[in-house]
Amino acid sequence: MQLITGKAKIAAVLGWPIEHSRSPLLHNFWLQRYQIDGAYIPLAVKSEDFKSVIKGMMAAGFKGCNVTIPHKEAAYQCCDYVDETAKKMGSVNTLWFTQDGKIHGTSTDGAGFVASLNDSGVNVSGKKILVLGAGGAARSVAYCLQRDSAQVTITNRTLKRAEQLVQDLGEGDILEWQSWNQELDKFDVLVNTTSLGMEGKEDFQFDLKNASPDLIVTDIVYVPRVTPLLAAAQLKGLKTVEGLGMLLHQARLGFTQWFGVDPKVDSELTEFVANSLKK
Ligand code: ATR
Repeated sequence: MQLITGKAKIAAVLGWPIEHSRSPLLHNFWLQRYQIDGAYIPLAVKSEDFKSVIKGMMAAGFKGCNVTIPHKEAAYQCCDYVDETAKKMGSVNTLWFTQDGKIHGTSTDGAGFVASLNDSGVNVSGKKILVLGAGGAARSVAYCLQRDSAQVTITNRTLKRAEQLVQDLGEGDILEWQSWNQELDKFDVLVNTTSLGMEGKEDFQFDLKNASPDLIVTDIVYVPRVTPLLAAAQLKGLKTVEGLGMLLHQARLGFTQWFGVDPKVDSELTEFVANSLKK
């Protein structure tokens, strides 16, 4: 067992609620693996307390934190320095505190998604990618796909949100929600960023009959691990990339900033986190 000393580096994840977060499990797995004197703890923080908790963490010598719902926008407002990705999102999920008392922030979801595709042997550059959804997750995924030279098309139940997203991104096409499955043969990759297929939500049948045999299908939902979309794709013999990879890869940058090691995403970690999702 890894013991922590008085010199331990401490980071946290802040959310409300926070019990569902897999981040403590994942970061503490890496801390053990790399024998790092450190800890990563869950903090249940209400919106009205967010700023004072951040101040307190800095005063107490924390290295930084992840933030999740409902703090991503408030965290962005707290930052002294943000990168281009964070500016496009207007929100951050990863903060690190520097010696000079400054707060740096970024949003790692989109980069984590692209890294997960890369890890599965998919290079997005030049690929025609259809993104289902136009919420916060779609925004970070679409932005990072475009940054890596993919051609992105957005389709969303509420057309106005798709239009707003494409306008904010500064590029990209739009397909009507009613007809995206008829146009599927025009795409190399299909990404679901909606909550359709998530455990506990209504059933949804994805119609993939117009997919080309080379279509790569991915979902950012990871509970269940094989979502209805991935199951439909596998039934057709299509290549799939599961959402769990994005969760694991998005965590790497924070860990590197706080603990000084770029941690590996491998099958041992994936199975460890996947097993925790069954409980
Ligand atoms: P997140 O930040 O996780 O992306 P969000 O901003 O609430 O969450 O976005 C959820 C996405 O799932 C949206 O694209 C939403 O479509 P609308 O913009 O039309 O609401 C999509 N979504 C959720 N439930 C859906 C459903 N039953 N059918 C189609 N799309 C759905």
